[in-house]
Amino acid sequence: MNNIASSLSKKSKFLILGCGYSGSFFAKTLRKLGFTTLTSSRSENKDQNSFVFNSENGTVPNKKIFDGVTHILSCIPPDNNGNDPVLGSLKNKLKSLSLEWVGYLSTTGVYGNAKGDWVSEIDQPSPYQIRSQRRLNCENEWIESGLPVQIFRLPGIYGPGRSTFEAIRNKKIRVISKKNQVFSRIHVADITNAIIYLLQNKNHLKFHQIINIADDEPCSQIEVIKYCYDLLGLKMPKPILFEDAKEELSPIAQSFWMENRRVSNKLLCETLGYELIYKNYKLGLKNCFLNS
Ligand SMILES: NC(=O)c1ccc[n+]([C@@H]2O[C@H](COP(=O)([O-])OP(=O)(O)OC[C@H]3O[C@@H](n4cnc5c(N)ncnc54)[C@H](OP(=O)(O)O)[C@@H]3O)[C@@H](O)[C@H]2O)c1
Repeated sequence: MNNIASSLSKKSKFLILGCGYSGSFFAKTLRKLGFTTLTSSRSENKDQNSFVFNSENGTVPNKKIFDGVTHILSCIPPDNNGNDPVLGSLKNKLKSLSLEWVGYLSTTGVYGNAKGDWVSEIDQPSPYQIRSQRRLNCENEWIESGLPVQIFRLPGIYGPGRSTFEAIRNKKIRVISKKNQVFSRIHVADITNAIIYLLQNKNHLKFHQIINIADDEPCSQIEVIKYCYDLLGLKMPKPILFEDAKEELSPIAQSFWMENRRVSNKLLCETLGYELIYKNYKLGLKNCFLNS
């Protein structure tokens, strides 16, 4: 981060809208780097750097919150009508600011089912699930907003406190096997680091509005689960075939198994030169194991 001043100045002020798992990690890192960073949540909390924003009940931040803001990251999912909660409530306010950058966390669900093939930013989105159709609509709303927006498409997010280890410990694990099925994933630290890396060079924003952030090795869920059991020194339960398990899965859990794709990170890692901290699930899970 030594050359961070090259495009982010000491005057940069960040607002993180929707400070859940990824937003908190991003905010914590920015503060360590010395940037003023305010975060939103839907209800009051004791953190002095936090403010309330809740599009569901119309609570919008006080005008003062926006003073001097230069950068915004939205981590808030679409509303039930498929519209973006931030743009629905705050678009005019955001447009009145002198923003240098707006980041939006989206999902690789917008690519739909690629039947195990690789998907990249040049592929036409083909969302299958309703939630992914809503997501694509939000991406388009952000692009059409005229704000200096950069969209990050993310696969399954994991990291300390949110990984297969928690599922095993809470006895919520299901060891399901489905032939040729793979998933892509990303460690939360790489979301933060990749975005900060991109912010260091304004050209990255100018030429690339949509960027996948995924690790190098899409793989089956079983490989990941087996690796966690091995690290814990426990024996993995016998896998159940997807066809046998599917009746018991919630609709949302079932929906994840209906799509099969490998998310390419070539734009981020080859063209733009970002070096992943956790190139694969083994490195990422070791970090979770040591921090849990
Ligand atoms: N989890 C994954 O594996 C995954 C994968 C790909 C993409 N994504 C997407 O990437 C983004 C970040 O993911 P995450 O897992 O870090 O998110 P998260 O932990 O679920 O946090 C979401 C945040 O959005 C806020 N929020 C939700 N609805 C809101 C509304 N109507 N008005 C105001 N705030 C609202 C929540 O507020 P509170 O703090 O008050 O709850 C929370 O801070 C999300 O859009 C998510 O859908 C997630």
